[in-house]
Amino acid sequence: MLVTGGTGVLGSRVVECLGSGGVEALTLSRGGRPGTVRGDLLTGEGLDRAVEGVDTIVHCASNPFRKSRQTDVGGTERLLGAAARTGVSHVIYISIVGIDRAQSYPYYRVKLETEHVIENSPVPHTILRATQFHDFVLGMVRLLEKPPVMLVPRGFLGQSVDVGEVAARLVELALSEPAGRAPDMGGPEVRTLAGAARAYLGVTGRRRRIFEVPVPGKTARAFREGALICPDGTHGSVSWEEFLRERWNPATGRIPSAYDRIE
Ligand SMILES: NC(=O)c1ccc[n+]([C@@H]2O[C@H](COP(=O)([O-])OP(=O)(O)OC[C@H]3O[C@@H](n4cnc5c(N)ncnc54)[C@H](OP(=O)(O)O)[C@@H]3O)[C@@H](O)[C@H]2O)c1
Repeated sequence: MLVTGGTGVLGSRVVECLGSGGVEALTLSRGGRPGTVRGDLLTGEGLDRAVEGVDTIVHCASNPFRKSRQTDVGGTERLLGAAARTGVSHVIYISIVGIDRAQSYPYYRVKLETEHVIENSPVPHTILRATQFHDFVLGMVRLLEKPPVMLVPRGFLGQSVDVGEVAARLVELALSEPAGRAPDMGGPEVRTLAGAARAYLGVTGRRRRIFEVPVPGKTARAFREGALICPDGTHGSVSWEEFLRERWNPATGRIPSAYDRIE
């Protein structure tokens, strides 16, 4: 099995989960660190070699910050071109809940286009859309708490999920037959960003005033109207508060996020 993005927050958990089930996974990475296969979605370099002899690809690599369209859309075309030539029998792609409901957000346009590339490829596929990971929301809340008063966008609804549970679900899908679009996956609770910030303050024992500020624009409206939640989907069991309590380090006064190491 090949895991793209296997050095990232989600992909590393996928590799770990496969390993604990006795499935050896290769990790595609631009860095060429020991234990990884060097390859770059942006240029296509190394992809043919990386997919040689591979039966299943779990595709977690993405670059939301730099050349995202060329990396995600173009890179997925290049990856699946190579995969089709060598007879890969299943690609599992991680996408995001609500990308079709918030198309004013550029990264979501890229994700939807990437889904279309996968759906139109001859390689059989499964697509799982997940909500924001708790670690990702934690990064946002920690940024919002930097000023003395927390200014939080009003009414943004989220349903964040534990990244380990998403990884386990991807592995389950990777070890099953191609399923097309799998049911969306979210966390166990829907709450506002301000509610998430309040819970964070509760766990850390910090005192901050929270002001909910109205944010104009289409994307903000979509987020208020519930674009990012999937109450009818499948749910992980680890709640936001459980996640925070489990990570809380009273000695440092911090709650570390899995994204810290790549900040
Ligand atoms: N964050 C969330 O809350 C969330 C929610 C739902 C779905 N998702 C989706 O989950 C996936 C993983 O997200 P993440 O937050 O875990 O990502 P991440 O930690 O930022 O990792 C990104 C990965 O992509 C790889 N990558 C980037 N550019 C590449 C390129 N040109 N060629 C090859 N590999 C490249 C990186 O590998 P190297 O640096 O080693 O090359 C890295 O392993 C993404 O598709 C994202 O859209 C995220």
